[in-house]
Amino acid sequence: MIVECPPASLSERKATCRAGSNIAFIKYWGVAGSGEDLNIPLNNSISMTLADAHTTTTVAWDGCVCLPEDTVVIDGVQLEGGPAERIVAHLDRLRALAGVPYKARVVSNNNFPMASGIASSASGFAALTVAGAAALGLRLNATRLSAVARQASGSASRSLFGGFVEWERGWGRGESESSSLLDTRSVAHQMYDENHWALRDVIAIVSAGAKRVSSSSGHRLAATSPLNAARTQCVREWLKTVRRAIAERDFSLLGPVLELDALAMHGVMMTSTPSLLYWQPGTLQVLQAVRSWREDEGVPVYFTIDAGPNVHLICEADSASEVERRVGALPAVERVLTSGPGTGPQFLDGHLF
Ligand code: DP6
Repeated sequence: MIVECPPASLSERKATCRAGSNIAFIKYWGVAGSGEDLNIPLNNSISMTLADAHTTTTVAWDGCVCLPEDTVVIDGVQLEGGPAERIVAHLDRLRALAGVPYKARVVSNNNFPMASGIASSASGFAALTVAGAAALGLRLNATRLSAVARQASGSASRSLFGGFVEWERGWGRGESESSSLLDTRSVAHQMYDENHWALRDVIAIVSAGAKRVSSSSGHRLAATSPLNAARTQCVREWLKTVRRAIAERDFSLLGPVLELDALAMHGVMMTSTPSLLYWQPGTLQVLQAVRSWREDEGVPVYFTIDAGPNVHLICEADSASEVERRVGALPAVERVLTSGPGTGPQFLDGHLF
């Protein structure tokens, strides 16, 4: 795994990393009680890391202590307020691990729209963790980096690995949730690499605008839904099915379960207090179309949705061009983005500044 060895010399204190987003087949929704700040999930989740939806991030630490504060520029926009604070909080974790006071300059680019149900925080915090740790000369393996990334964004823990990935809840129920930054009880691991199964995520973008309620706030609301306990209970069986479907590359076993858990998670979201409704009319148009293509015409495709209005159509590679053609023709769909399984984070020689 490339993240074992930092590429930047300590004097340079700069590194650039590209990390893929991921799409979960069994979702992470809800954090365990007192572990809120640690992002200990209510259940294990399973995802596929994406090759073509990624974030590239350069981090430079200011070793001469000239920079008065951290600066963060994402997709050409300098961040202020809440979004900047979340990144500064993660830079604080890296500073604490290295025991240094340096401020950082962070420049990051996504190749897909941010905050719209494509997990920019997953790829973003994975890339930030790997580049930031490497530039500080921290020698952390992918498992430890997964634990560190998890504390910024749960789904980022999965983007530390390529291919098919499971993130373990790790903590036993009722177990103490106090922990050090490098506690590796709740981390992701790779199940199979990116060459295991040629699945495709055909992403139907019905709205590229930012969502109103971030997943981070939503996780705290899951426990208020009367459906939450039922979903958590069902997920134990669904995880077994998804593990078996991936092991055997059995699409007819995988599809129904991934669709079911997406609907179960949105059921929890819709019935929490306050209620979260991420869907838009275009979302439903895509869901109805997928059902009709599959049930009336036999097209093997299933849907999943994250915390946003866009719909991820999961199919095997040989159906992808047909699915793209059909979904691209729907009036509600602004843009289609397709990705297969990708590798874990990669260091790049060319920095963004
Ligand atoms: C719905 O807490 O990882 O995508 O708040 O954007 O960091 P951010 O997201 P995160 O929650 C993601 C939840 C999900 C389902 C999933 O990816 O498992």
